[in-house]
Amino acid sequence: MRAANRHFGRLSGGSVTAKTGATASRRGIGADTRWLVIRRVSFAKKYKAGQAPLMADTTGDAIPGTMTVDDDGIRRRDFINVAAVGAAGVGGIAVLLPLISQMAPSADVLAESSTEIDVSSVQPGMAIKAVFRKQPLFVRRLTPAEIKAANAVDVSSLRDPQTLAERTKEGHEDLLITMGVCTHLGCVPLGAGEGENKGPFGGYFCPCHGSAYDTAARIRKGPAPKNLEVPEYEFTSDTVVKVG
Ligand code: FES
Repeated sequence: MRAANRHFGRLSGGSVTAKTGATASRRGIGADTRWLVIRRVSFAKKYKAGQAPLMADTTGDAIPGTMTVDDDGIRRRDFINVAAVGAAGVGGIAVLLPLISQMAPSADVLAESSTEIDVSSVQPGMAIKAVFRKQPLFVRRLTPAEIKAANAVDVSSLRDPQTLAERTKEGHEDLLITMGVCTHLGCVPLGAGEGENKGPFGGYFCPCHGSAYDTAARIRKGPAPKNLEVPEYEFTSDTVVKVG
């Protein structure tokens, strides 16, 4: 019985009224702190010499306004579980937020994602070089003769079949906008600068390995597999183009 009371006092932290009517008080805990009262303790009789108490085997009826040991234990465990899960969740969010924000594109990258070009000064037969996403961009105004030459080609004979209309905007077929990057190994072809070699098809010429592009910047000769890439773009006015 003494052992039972000692064990039970450890569980409750207060006074215990056992089935026998005896009262066990832990030292340092006054009567006014007795918030837990167990009216019946059944495990005492199960307590045999040499049998180690694994956990409190108690049954009891709670007096109104008090809690049983089981209730107390469950509620404490629930609280600990909820607190642990909540802390883990908050900690996870705190770790992930900086990582996610780090993955977002920076302001300078966003600024470079599109480029606006005033094409009003690009006269027929002229081309200018711009920069789009750190790569060269060719903006070329075709002459009527160059448009005619591009439209005269049998598209089915091309390595990368595309018409001039498919590579320009409706109503602006004379304005050809392409990346200035050879589709073979990425050299910058000639032909956009004044006096540069435009190659045998009058468009662009890549001297690295001899790729020649026509007036619609389509590959006509040499190792390049594809036409010069036409980027996404739109006219924001009659004279301004937004690329990207
Ligand atoms: S990189 Fe242009 S032909 Fe090879």
